[in-house]
Amino acid sequence: MPAPLRIGDLVIDPPILQAPMAGFTNAAFRQMVREFGGSGLLATEMVNARGFVWLDENEAEHPDRLWGVADEARPLAVQIWDNDAATMAKVGRRLVEEYKISIVDINFGCPVRQVTEKAHSGSYLLREPQRMFDIISRLVKACSPTPVTAKIRLGCSPENVNCNEVARVVEEAGAAALTVHGRTAKDMFKGHADWDRISQIKSHLINIPLIGNGDLDSAEKVVAAFENYQVDGVMIARACLGRPWLFAQAAAALRGDPIPPEPTLKEQRNVMLHHYKLVTERFGEEKGTILMRKYACCYAQGKPGARHFRSHVATIASATEFYAVVDEFFPVEERPRNPSSAAP
Ligand SMILES: Cc1cc2nc3c(=O)[nH]c(=O)nc-3n(C[C@H](O)[C@H](O)[C@H](O)COP(=O)(O)O)c2cc1C
Repeated sequence: MPAPLRIGDLVIDPPILQAPMAGFTNAAFRQMVREFGGSGLLATEMVNARGFVWLDENEAEHPDRLWGVADEARPLAVQIWDNDAATMAKVGRRLVEEYKISIVDINFGCPVRQVTEKAHSGSYLLREPQRMFDIISRLVKACSPTPVTAKIRLGCSPENVNCNEVARVVEEAGAAALTVHGRTAKDMFKGHADWDRISQIKSHLINIPLIGNGDLDSAEKVVAAFENYQVDGVMIARACLGRPWLFAQAAAALRGDPIPPEPTLKEQRNVMLHHYKLVTERFGEEKGTILMRKYACCYAQGKPGARHFRSHVATIASATEFYAVVDEFFPVEERPRNPSSAAP
Protein backbone atom coordinates (compact mmCIF):
# COMPACT_ATOMS: atom_id res chain seq x y z
CA MET A 1 0.00 0.00 0.00
CA PRO A 2 1.51 3.37 -0.96
CA ALA A 3 2.01 6.01 1.73
CA PRO A 4 -0.93 8.37 2.27
CA LEU A 5 -1.08 11.22 -0.21
CA ARG A 6 -1.01 14.60 1.48
CA ILE A 7 -2.13 17.75 -0.33
CA GLY A 8 -1.69 20.63 2.10
CA ASP A 9 -3.46 19.50 5.26
CA LEU A 10 -5.67 17.03 3.39
CA VAL A 11 -5.04 13.32 3.41
CA ILE A 12 -6.16 11.78 0.12
CA ASP A 13 -6.96 8.17 0.85
CA PRO A 14 -6.81 6.11 -1.27
CA PRO A 15 -4.33 8.06 -3.43
CA ILE A 16 -6.39 7.47 -6.57
CA LEU A 17 -7.90 10.63 -8.05
CA GLN A 18 -10.81 11.05 -10.43
CA ALA A 19 -9.63 13.33 -13.23
CA PRO A 20 -11.42 16.51 -14.27
CA MET A 21 -13.09 15.95 -17.65
CA ALA A 22 -14.98 18.73 -19.40
CA GLY A 23 -18.45 17.66 -20.46
CA PHE A 24 -18.37 14.57 -18.25
CA THR A 25 -17.41 14.95 -14.58
CA ASN A 26 -20.51 16.80 -13.42
CA ALA A 27 -22.25 16.17 -10.10
CA ALA A 28 -24.21 13.17 -11.40
CA PHE A 29 -21.06 11.46 -12.61
CA ARG A 30 -19.24 12.26 -9.38
CA GLN A 31 -22.08 10.77 -7.40
CA MET A 32 -21.73 7.55 -9.38
CA VAL A 33 -18.00 7.44 -8.55
CA ARG A 34 -18.69 8.19 -4.92
CA GLU A 35 -21.31 5.47 -4.60
CA PHE A 36 -18.79 2.81 -5.65
CA GLY A 37 -15.99 4.41 -3.61
CA GLY A 38 -12.27 3.96 -4.10
CA SER A 39 -11.36 7.48 -5.23
CA GLY A 40 -9.72 9.68 -2.60
CA LEU A 41 -10.36 12.93 -4.48
CA LEU A 42 -12.96 13.89 -7.06
CA ALA A 43 -12.78 16.84 -9.41
CA THR A 44 -15.22 18.97 -11.36
CA GLU A 45 -15.01 19.85 -15.03
CA MET A 46 -12.79 22.84 -15.76
CA VAL A 47 -14.47 26.18 -15.07
CA ASN A 48 -13.46 29.29 -16.96
CA ALA A 49 -12.51 32.10 -14.54
CA ARG A 50 -13.54 34.98 -16.81
CA GLY A 51 -16.85 33.29 -17.52
CA PHE A 52 -17.47 32.96 -13.79
CA VAL A 53 -16.76 36.65 -13.21
CA TRP A 54 -18.95 37.69 -16.14
CA LEU A 55 -21.90 35.67 -14.85
CA ASP A 56 -21.32 37.06 -11.39
CA GLU A 57 -21.21 40.69 -12.54
CA ASN A 58 -24.34 40.20 -14.59
CA GLU A 59 -26.10 38.64 -11.66
CA ALA A 60 -26.71 35.46 -13.60
CA GLU A 61 -26.46 32.04 -12.01
CA HIS A 62 -22.98 30.68 -11.45
CA PRO A 63 -21.62 28.30 -14.11
CA ASP A 64 -23.56 25.08 -14.65
CA ARG A 65 -20.28 23.31 -14.06
CA LEU A 66 -20.56 24.24 -10.38
CA TRP A 67 -23.79 22.27 -10.07
CA GLY A 68 -23.67 20.25 -6.84
CA VAL A 69 -20.36 21.66 -5.68
CA ALA A 70 -21.73 23.59 -2.70
CA ASP A 71 -23.47 20.57 -1.17
CA GLU A 72 -21.68 17.42 -2.08
CA ALA A 73 -19.23 15.37 -0.01
CA ARG A 74 -15.65 16.44 0.46
CA PRO A 75 -12.84 16.33 -0.46
CA LEU A 76 -13.66 17.92 -3.80
CA ALA A 77 -11.40 19.84 -6.18
CA VAL A 78 -12.70 22.50 -8.55
CA GLN A 79 -10.54 23.04 -11.59
CA ILE A 80 -10.30 26.49 -13.15
CA TRP A 81 -8.67 27.69 -16.35
CA ASP A 82 -7.66 31.08 -17.72
CA ASN A 83 -4.51 33.17 -18.01
CA ASP A 84 -5.13 36.29 -15.96
CA ALA A 85 -3.73 35.92 -12.45
CA ALA A 86 -5.95 38.58 -10.86
CA THR A 87 -9.17 37.14 -12.30
CA MET A 88 -8.19 33.62 -11.34
CA ALA A 89 -7.28 34.70 -7.81
CA LYS A 90 -10.65 36.41 -7.46
CA VAL A 91 -12.51 33.30 -8.58
CA GLY A 92 -10.34 31.03 -6.42
CA ARG A 93 -11.18 33.14 -3.38
CA ARG A 94 -14.92 32.97 -4.15
CA LEU A 95 -14.79 29.21 -4.58
CA VAL A 96 -13.06 28.85 -1.25
CA GLU A 97 -15.23 31.29 0.68
CA GLU A 98 -18.61 30.61 -0.85
CA TYR A 99 -18.40 27.00 -1.96
CA LYS A 100 -15.91 25.88 0.67
CA ILE A 101 -14.15 23.57 -1.75
CA SER A 102 -11.20 21.44 -0.64
CA ILE A 103 -8.74 22.24 -3.45
CA VAL A 104 -8.42 24.74 -6.29
CA ASP A 105 -6.77 23.02 -9.25
CA ILE A 106 -5.37 24.98 -12.18
CA ASN A 107 -5.53 23.64 -15.70
CA PHE A 108 -2.19 23.95 -17.50
CA GLY A 109 -2.77 20.92 -19.67
CA CYS A 110 -5.76 21.47 -21.94
CA PRO A 111 -4.59 21.12 -25.57
CA VAL A 112 -7.84 22.20 -27.24
CA ARG A 113 -7.40 25.08 -29.73
CA GLN A 114 -10.18 27.15 -28.26
CA VAL A 115 -8.33 27.19 -24.93
CA THR A 116 -4.73 27.35 -26.21
CA GLU A 117 -4.63 29.41 -29.41
CA LYS A 118 -7.74 31.49 -28.80
CA ALA A 119 -7.46 32.07 -25.04
CA HIS A 120 -3.73 31.52 -24.45
CA SER A 121 -4.60 29.28 -21.54
CA GLY A 122 -4.35 25.60 -20.59
CA SER A 123 -1.26 23.94 -22.05
CA TYR A 124 -0.37 27.16 -23.92
CA LEU A 125 0.94 28.49 -20.61
CA LEU A 126 3.57 25.74 -20.36
CA ARG A 127 5.68 27.90 -22.67
CA GLU A 128 5.52 30.75 -20.14
CA PRO A 129 6.69 29.36 -16.78
CA GLN A 130 7.02 32.87 -15.33
CA ARG A 131 3.37 33.52 -16.03
CA MET A 132 2.49 30.19 -14.46
CA PHE A 133 4.44 31.28 -11.41
CA ASP A 134 2.45 34.53 -11.20
CA ILE A 135 -0.88 32.74 -11.58
CA ILE A 136 -0.10 30.07 -9.00
CA SER A 137 1.41 32.41 -6.43
CA ARG A 138 -1.54 34.86 -6.67
CA LEU A 139 -3.99 32.00 -6.29
CA VAL A 140 -2.11 30.48 -3.37
CA LYS A 141 -2.23 33.81 -1.57
CA ALA A 142 -5.91 34.37 -2.37
CA CYS A 143 -7.05 30.87 -1.42
CA SER A 144 -4.91 30.24 1.69
CA PRO A 145 -5.16 27.97 3.63
CA THR A 146 -7.01 25.98 0.96
CA PRO A 147 -4.45 24.19 -1.19
CA VAL A 148 -3.89 25.12 -4.82
CA THR A 149 -2.69 22.41 -7.21
CA ALA A 150 -1.58 22.36 -10.84
CA LYS A 151 -2.24 19.89 -13.65
CA ILE A 152 0.17 19.89 -16.56
CA ARG A 153 1.29 17.90 -19.59
CA LEU A 154 4.95 17.06 -20.29
CA GLY A 155 5.30 20.17 -22.45
CA CYS A 156 3.77 21.82 -25.49
CA SER A 157 5.26 19.37 -28.00
CA PRO A 158 7.74 16.48 -28.10
CA GLU A 159 10.39 19.05 -29.14
CA ASN A 160 9.53 21.24 -26.15
CA VAL A 161 9.30 18.98 -23.14
CA ASN A 162 9.89 21.21 -20.11
CA CYS A 163 8.03 19.42 -17.31
CA ASN A 164 11.06 19.30 -15.01
CA GLU A 165 11.52 23.08 -15.15
CA VAL A 166 7.76 23.64 -14.86
CA ALA A 167 7.58 21.31 -11.86
CA ARG A 168 10.12 23.43 -9.99
CA VAL A 169 8.22 26.60 -10.85
CA VAL A 170 4.94 25.06 -9.67
CA GLU A 171 6.45 24.13 -6.30
CA GLU A 172 8.29 27.43 -5.84
CA ALA A 173 5.05 29.30 -6.52
CA GLY A 174 3.47 27.51 -3.59
CA ALA A 175 1.30 24.81 -5.17
CA ALA A 176 0.50 21.88 -2.90
CA ALA A 177 0.63 19.12 -5.53
CA LEU A 178 1.44 18.54 -9.19
CA THR A 179 -0.46 16.24 -11.53
CA VAL A 180 1.19 15.28 -14.80
CA HIS A 181 -0.48 13.73 -17.83
CA GLY A 182 2.39 11.93 -19.56
CA ARG A 183 1.86 13.32 -23.04
CA THR A 184 2.62 16.66 -24.63
CA ALA A 185 -0.14 18.99 -25.78
CA LYS A 186 0.69 18.30 -29.41
CA ASP A 187 0.25 14.56 -28.79
CA MET A 188 -3.36 15.18 -27.78
CA PHE A 189 -4.24 11.53 -26.95
CA LYS A 190 -1.94 9.81 -29.46
CA GLY A 191 0.54 7.12 -28.50
CA HIS A 192 1.17 6.13 -24.90
CA ALA A 193 1.58 8.24 -21.80
CA ASP A 194 5.30 8.39 -20.96
CA TRP A 195 5.48 7.22 -17.37
CA ASP A 196 9.29 7.28 -17.30
CA ARG A 197 9.13 11.01 -17.91
CA ILE A 198 6.49 11.42 -15.24
CA SER A 199 8.65 9.47 -12.80
CA GLN A 200 11.73 11.60 -13.51
CA ILE A 201 9.90 14.70 -12.38
CA LYS A 202 9.91 13.41 -8.79
CA SER A 203 13.58 14.32 -8.34
CA HIS A 204 12.78 17.92 -9.31
CA LEU A 205 10.23 18.31 -6.53
CA ILE A 206 11.28 18.89 -2.94
CA ASN A 207 8.18 18.55 -0.79
CA ILE A 208 5.03 18.40 -2.84
CA PRO A 209 3.49 15.16 -4.09
CA LEU A 210 3.54 14.03 -7.71
CA ILE A 211 0.39 12.52 -9.21
CA GLY A 212 0.80 10.51 -12.40
CA ASN A 213 -1.88 10.37 -15.08
CA GLY A 214 -2.34 8.64 -18.41
CA ASP A 215 -3.68 5.36 -19.74
CA LEU A 216 -4.54 3.73 -16.41
CA ASP A 217 -7.49 1.50 -17.24
CA SER A 218 -7.23 -1.38 -14.78
CA ALA A 219 -6.58 -2.07 -11.12
CA GLU A 220 -3.42 -3.93 -12.11
CA LYS A 221 -2.07 -0.90 -13.97
CA VAL A 222 -2.71 1.30 -10.94
CA VAL A 223 -0.72 -1.08 -8.72
CA ALA A 224 2.05 -1.23 -11.34
CA ALA A 225 2.19 2.57 -11.54
CA PHE A 226 2.95 2.78 -7.82
CA GLU A 227 5.42 -0.11 -7.98
CA ASN A 228 7.37 1.03 -11.02
CA TYR A 229 7.27 4.81 -10.96
CA GLN A 230 7.98 7.47 -8.39
CA VAL A 231 4.49 8.80 -7.96
CA ASP A 232 2.63 9.63 -4.77
CA GLY A 233 -0.79 9.36 -6.35
CA VAL A 234 -2.46 8.42 -9.61
CA MET A 235 -5.30 9.97 -11.57
CA ILE A 236 -7.75 8.15 -13.83
CA ALA A 237 -9.74 9.83 -16.61
CA ARG A 238 -11.18 8.10 -19.69
CA ALA A 239 -11.31 4.57 -18.30
CA CYS A 240 -13.67 5.53 -15.49
CA LEU A 241 -16.28 7.12 -17.75
CA GLY A 242 -18.24 3.92 -18.38
CA ARG A 243 -16.74 2.16 -15.37
CA PRO A 244 -17.22 4.26 -12.24
CA TRP A 245 -16.47 1.09 -10.22
CA LEU A 246 -12.86 1.10 -11.47
CA PHE A 247 -11.66 3.15 -8.47
CA ALA A 248 -13.06 0.59 -6.02
CA GLN A 249 -11.27 -2.17 -7.93
CA ALA A 250 -7.99 -0.23 -7.92
CA ALA A 251 -8.29 0.64 -4.24
CA ALA A 252 -8.84 -3.03 -3.34
CA ALA A 253 -5.81 -4.03 -5.39
CA LEU A 254 -3.67 -1.40 -3.65
CA ARG A 255 -4.72 -2.77 -0.26
CA GLY A 256 -3.80 -6.25 -1.43
CA ASP A 257 -7.43 -7.39 -1.29
CA PRO A 258 -9.09 -9.43 -4.04
CA ILE A 259 -10.18 -7.18 -6.92
CA PRO A 260 -13.98 -6.98 -7.10
CA PRO A 261 -15.11 -8.50 -10.41
CA GLU A 262 -16.57 -6.39 -13.21
CA PRO A 263 -20.31 -6.05 -12.60
CA THR A 264 -22.39 -8.33 -14.81
CA LEU A 265 -23.86 -6.67 -17.90
CA LYS A 266 -27.23 -6.63 -16.15
CA GLU A 267 -25.68 -4.82 -13.18
CA GLN A 268 -23.89 -2.40 -15.51
CA ARG A 269 -27.16 -1.67 -17.21
CA ASN A 270 -28.73 -0.90 -13.83
CA VAL A 271 -25.80 1.39 -12.96
CA MET A 272 -26.38 3.23 -16.23
CA LEU A 273 -30.12 3.57 -15.52
CA HIS A 274 -29.35 5.00 -12.07
CA HIS A 275 -26.96 7.47 -13.72
CA TYR A 276 -29.69 8.39 -16.21
CA LYS A 277 -32.08 9.13 -13.35
CA LEU A 278 -29.58 11.50 -11.72
CA VAL A 279 -28.95 13.32 -15.00
CA THR A 280 -32.63 13.76 -15.87
CA GLU A 281 -33.53 14.86 -12.34
CA ARG A 282 -31.19 17.78 -12.85
CA PHE A 283 -31.59 18.61 -16.54
CA GLY A 284 -35.12 17.46 -17.28
CA GLU A 285 -36.16 14.72 -19.66
CA GLU A 286 -35.11 16.06 -23.05
CA LYS A 287 -31.84 17.80 -22.16
CA GLY A 288 -30.96 15.02 -19.72
CA THR A 289 -31.57 12.29 -22.30
CA ILE A 290 -29.47 14.10 -24.89
CA LEU A 291 -26.69 14.59 -22.31
CA MET A 292 -26.93 10.93 -21.34
CA ARG A 293 -26.23 9.73 -24.88
CA LYS A 294 -22.47 10.06 -24.46
CA TYR A 295 -22.41 8.39 -21.03
CA ALA A 296 -24.57 5.54 -22.35
CA CYS A 297 -22.04 4.98 -25.14
CA CYS A 298 -19.27 4.85 -22.55
CA TYR A 299 -21.13 2.20 -20.56
CA ALA A 300 -21.52 0.06 -23.68
CA GLN A 301 -17.98 0.59 -24.97
CA GLY A 302 -15.95 -2.52 -25.64
CA LYS A 303 -18.90 -4.86 -25.31
CA PRO A 304 -20.44 -7.01 -28.03
CA GLY A 305 -23.05 -5.01 -29.93
CA ALA A 306 -21.76 -1.64 -28.66
CA ARG A 307 -21.70 -0.14 -32.15
CA HIS A 308 -25.28 -1.03 -32.76
CA PHE A 309 -26.31 0.38 -29.37
CA ARG A 310 -24.35 3.58 -30.05
CA SER A 311 -26.01 4.21 -33.39
CA HIS A 312 -29.47 3.93 -31.79
CA VAL A 313 -28.61 5.98 -28.70
CA ALA A 314 -27.32 8.79 -30.91
CA THR A 315 -30.85 9.77 -31.96
CA ILE A 316 -32.89 9.58 -28.75
CA ALA A 317 -34.35 12.54 -26.86
CA SER A 318 -37.01 11.12 -24.52
CA ALA A 319 -37.17 8.70 -21.61
CA THR A 320 -39.42 6.32 -23.56
CA GLU A 321 -36.91 6.17 -26.39
CA PHE A 322 -34.03 5.77 -23.98
CA TYR A 323 -35.58 2.82 -22.15
CA ALA A 324 -36.66 1.21 -25.44
CA VAL A 325 -33.13 1.44 -26.89
CA VAL A 326 -31.61 0.12 -23.67
CA ASP A 327 -34.08 -2.78 -23.58
CA GLU A 328 -33.46 -3.71 -27.14
CA PHE A 329 -29.80 -2.94 -27.72
CA PHE A 330 -27.78 -2.59 -24.49
CA PRO A 331 -25.35 -5.54 -24.53
CA VAL A 332 -26.54 -8.55 -22.55
CA GLU A 333 -24.78 -11.64 -21.31
CA GLU A 334 -24.63 -14.31 -23.97
CA ARG A 335 -27.10 -16.97 -22.99
CA PRO A 336 -25.59 -20.42 -22.50
CA ARG A 337 -26.64 -22.60 -25.40
CA ASN A 338 -29.42 -25.01 -24.71
CA PRO A 339 -27.65 -28.40 -24.95
CA SER A 340 -30.80 -30.19 -26.13
CA SER A 341 -30.98 -27.96 -29.21
CA ALA A 342 -27.33 -28.50 -30.10
CA ALA A 343 -26.72 -30.37 -33.32
CA PRO A 344 -25.66 -33.97 -32.73
C1 LIG B 1 -13.49 14.22 -22.65
C2 LIG B 1 -12.30 14.70 -21.88
C3 LIG B 1 -12.36 15.90 -21.20
C4 LIG B 1 -11.26 16.36 -20.47
N1 LIG B 1 -11.36 17.53 -19.77
C5 LIG B 1 -10.34 17.92 -18.98
C6 LIG B 1 -10.47 19.05 -18.13
O1 LIG B 1 -11.53 19.71 -18.06
N2 LIG B 1 -9.40 19.38 -17.37
C7 LIG B 1 -8.23 18.66 -17.40
O2 LIG B 1 -7.28 19.00 -16.69
N3 LIG B 1 -8.09 17.59 -18.18
C8 LIG B 1 -9.11 17.19 -18.95
N4 LIG B 1 -8.99 16.05 -19.69
C9 LIG B 1 -7.75 15.25 -19.60
C10 LIG B 1 -7.86 14.17 -18.52
O3 LIG B 1 -8.07 14.74 -17.25
C11 LIG B 1 -6.59 13.29 -18.48
O4 LIG B 1 -5.48 14.11 -18.19
C12 LIG B 1 -6.34 12.57 -19.80
O5 LIG B 1 -7.54 12.05 -20.35
C13 LIG B 1 -5.34 11.42 -19.62
O6 LIG B 1 -5.80 10.49 -18.69
P1 LIG B 1 -6.45 9.06 -19.13
O7 LIG B 1 -5.46 8.38 -20.02
O8 LIG B 1 -6.69 8.34 -17.84
O9 LIG B 1 -7.69 9.38 -19.90
C14 LIG B 1 -10.06 15.59 -20.45
C15 LIG B 1 -10.01 14.37 -21.13
C16 LIG B 1 -11.12 13.92 -21.82
C17 LIG B 1 -11.03 12.58 -22.53
